[in-house]
Amino acid sequence: MATDRNARLVEWLEDAFAMEQEAETLLKAMGGRIEHYPDLKARIEQHVVETQGQMQELEGCLEALGGSKPTLKAAAGSVMASMHAMGNAMMNDEVAKGVGISYAFEQMEIATYRALAIAARRAGQESIAERCLAIQAQEEAMANWLYDAQPQIITAFLDREAAEMDAKR
Ligand SMILES: [Fe+2]
Repeated sequence: MATDRNARLVEWLEDAFAMEQEAETLLKAMGGRIEHYPDLKARIEQHVVETQGQMQELEGCLEALGGSKPTLKAAAGSVMASMHAMGNAMMNDEVAKGVGISYAFEQMEIATYRALAIAARRAGQESIAERCLAIQAQEEAMANWLYDAQPQIITAFLDREAAEMDAKR
């Protein structure tokens, strides 16, 4: 049983686990449908593996606090709703939109782990704080990659679209 002192930390770790489950589902959906952007596909696939590792880390943190294996919680938030929409709809500008939505999702993850690290430190759980900061660094690397790659991906997307329109003329 978690003590009261750890209750908020446990809850936030469970929330983070649910968030990563969403991330895994949606990254896999997006990665699986990318055909023309091999660098983006590879980076997303790498982040799927990182995300799976993050879920294991979160499980380990919860175990260390005496909690049980987390179960899937209902997802909340407009970013997740957008990700769902992206996962469900085959938009013709999916790649272009997906880069922006993924970037937004990474920012939410970064904020989540920053908050978790603070909560862990306050609860005297230094090693959990460090694990959360290590995950945060992976999210920052993914966010930075997406940010840097976006201009090239958007340009390539618009080039492809223009070429397709010319071909139809
Ligand atoms: Fe993540």
